[in-house]
Amino acid sequence: METQGFAVKQEKAALEPHHFEIESPDNYGCVIRVLACGICHSDIHMIDNDWGMSNYPLIPGHEVIGEVVEIGPQAKHLKIGDRVGVGWQRSSCLQCMDCLRGNENLCDDTRALIATGPGGFADRLAMDSRFVFPIPDAIETEVAGPLLCGGITVYSALRYAGMSSGQEIGVIGVGGLGHMAVQFAAKLGNRVTVFTTSQDKADFAAQLGAHEAIVVGKGEAPVAPSKPLNILLSTVPASLDWVPYLNFLDSDGTLSFVGVPDEPLKLPLFPLLMKRRRIMSSPIGGRAIMREMLDVAATYGIKPIVEVFPMEKVNDALRRVRENKVRYRAVLVNS
Ligand SMILES: NC(=O)c1ccc[n+]([C@@H]2O[C@H](COP(=O)([O-])OP(=O)(O)OC[C@H]3O[C@@H](n4cnc5c(N)ncnc54)[C@H](OP(=O)(O)O)[C@@H]3O)[C@@H](O)[C@H]2O)c1
Ligand SMILES: [Zn+2]
Ligand SMILES: [Zn+2]
Repeated sequence: METQGFAVKQEKAALEPHHFEIESPDNYGCVIRVLACGICHSDIHMIDNDWGMSNYPLIPGHEVIGEVVEIGPQAKHLKIGDRVGVGWQRSSCLQCMDCLRGNENLCDDTRALIATGPGGFADRLAMDSRFVFPIPDAIETEVAGPLLCGGITVYSALRYAGMSSGQEIGVIGVGGLGHMAVQFAAKLGNRVTVFTTSQDKADFAAQLGAHEAIVVGKGEAPVAPSKPLNILLSTVPASLDWVPYLNFLDSDGTLSFVGVPDEPLKLPLFPLLMKRRRIMSSPIGGRAIMREMLDVAATYGIKPIVEVFPMEKVNDALRRVRENKVRYRAVLVNS
C-alpha cells in the first residue's frame, strides 16, 4: 500500500514529503489510518540525533490517533473502524520478566516507534496490534494523541514516584508533558506547584489546577515553594542547576526526571543524604498503566490543550515547539 508521510532526510533538516510502502498485516499486525499526531519534544531530539539512535530518512510522530483499517488474523482485540492510539513503543519481547510484570517499557528488546520504522507523521501506520490502545469515547481525537506519550510518561513517573493524593507535587517546565502532569496531579487530589520560565504559563497555571506558580528567570535560582515537596517532576529538555530543586524536597521526597537534560547529572550527595531524598527517572509506561492512564484521563476530564496544524504544516509546527511558543502541545491532523 503506497503511503505518504513527512521525513527528515539528514540530522536537523526540515521535513520533506516522503512516499513508502506498507504491507498488508499478518498475525498480530494492523494498519491504522492516521487522523492526528502530537509533536513531542522527543521528536525534536530524534530529528536532531541528540541520542545517537536516529536512522534517516526518519518519519517522526509517536502520539498517534487513528482508525483501524486493516487487521491481521490474530489481532482479535481490534476491529476495523476502532479509534486507537499508538505511543513511543513499537514492540517488546513479551517474554522477559519485565514484560511479564507489565513493564514492557523496561524490556531490553523494546523498540521505539520512530527509531525502528516510520512514525505517525504520515497517512497510515503499520503496527503490532498488541501495542495499539483503544481510545475511550470521552476523549476527542484531536486532544487524545498527546496522552499516548506525554500523558503516559508523566502519569507513570508520578505513580512510580509514589503519587497518591494529599501530597505536595512540583512540576518543572510547563510544556507538553508538564501541563499534563499538573492536571493529573491536581485532579487526583494533590497540591501542585509549577516552576516555569514563561510568565503567561504562570498566569495560566491555576486553570490547569496548579495552586502555586513560580517564575524562574533565565540564569536565576528558583524561589522556594511555600511547602516542601513530596515529588518534584522535571520535564525540562535541558540542564539546570538541580541543587536548589533538591533542597525543595521534603524528607524522603523524590526528584524524578522525565525530561532529558543535554548533559550528565552532576550532583552533591549531601542534599540527598541529609534528608533521605531520592532521584529517579522513568521511561513512558507499560501497556497496563497505559490503559489505566487513559481511563483516569477520561474519568477525571484530563485533556491536553492543543494547537492544531494541518499535517502539511509540520515544519511550522516543529519551529513553534523549538521556540517554546506552543501552548501546550502541537497536534498535526490529516484532512
Ligand atoms: N521519559 C520519557 O519517557 C519521555 C517521554 C516523552 C518526552 N520526554 C522528554 O521530556 C522532555 C520534555 O518534552 P515535552 O514534549 O514536554 O517538551 P516541550 O513541550 O518542549 O516542553 C518542555 C518545557 O521545558 C521548559 N524548558 C525548555 N527549555 C528550557 C530551558 N533551557 N530551561 C528551563 N526550562 C526549559 C519549557 O517550559 P516553561 O516554558 O514552563 O519554562 C518547555 O515548555 C524532552 O526532553 C522529551 O524528550 C521523555
Ligand atoms: Zn514522546
Ligand atoms: Zn521483554
